[in-house]
Amino acid sequence: MLIAIDGPAASGKGTLARRLARHFNVPHLDTGLLYRATAAGLIDKGCRLDDVEKAVGVARGLALVDFDEARLRGREMGEAASVVAAIPAVREALIDAQRRFAGRPEGAVLDGRDIGTVICPQARVKIFVTAAPETRAQRRALELAGRGEKVDFADVLEDIRKRDARDSGRSTAPLRAAEDAAMLDTTLLDVEGAFAAALKIVQERAAVAS
Ligand code: DC
Repeated sequence: MLIAIDGPAASGKGTLARRLARHFNVPHLDTGLLYRATAAGLIDKGCRLDDVEKAVGVARGLALVDFDEARLRGREMGEAASVVAAIPAVREALIDAQRRFAGRPEGAVLDGRDIGTVICPQARVKIFVTAAPETRAQRRALELAGRGEKVDFADVLEDIRKRDARDSGRSTAPLRAAEDAAMLDTTLLDVEGAFAAALKIVQERAAVAS
């Protein structure tokens, strides 16, 4: 069972991907962490986020384990990740590792921005998760506050809008739904509701495939 999940920042795709992976007992890769870790590596080396050569070096050297998630999931790193993710050579450097993960015999769940369009276009189950920007900002603000970050709702909403524009407007692998993706709007759904809706999509797709 290979499930490709895409969507904008704080749409709920990460939570959904984790739940689905647990339900089907397959590994999960949050591909945003790869871009976040690349950005963090550049910052740690004192390099600029647009230093293509250094960024590719950091991306190539990433191991898919041992991420310092507490640091990577902070607000600053989300923004920095969106900047390095717009560099085509960085995306290229991260493709193989993601495809290898997706090719595991037992299956996998991957979530990101280009999973259904670029990384695993062959996945039978593709879900594009959306939610209104204000709802996403509310969720992200709660999540950041829960991690002890000082947050202002207006700033978080502004971040979300900026990231949406950058992630959707870049020339390589922009955020968009694959033509055969099922759309899932989570604006009015809680975690359980979104999971139930996603499970229905998976079951429908699996039934068509068999
Ligand atoms: O999903 P996230 O918020 O952790 O992702 C951080 C940034 O990384 C996001 O703004 C865009 C980029 N990203 C990407 O371009 N492609 C992916 N598959 C995953 C994330």
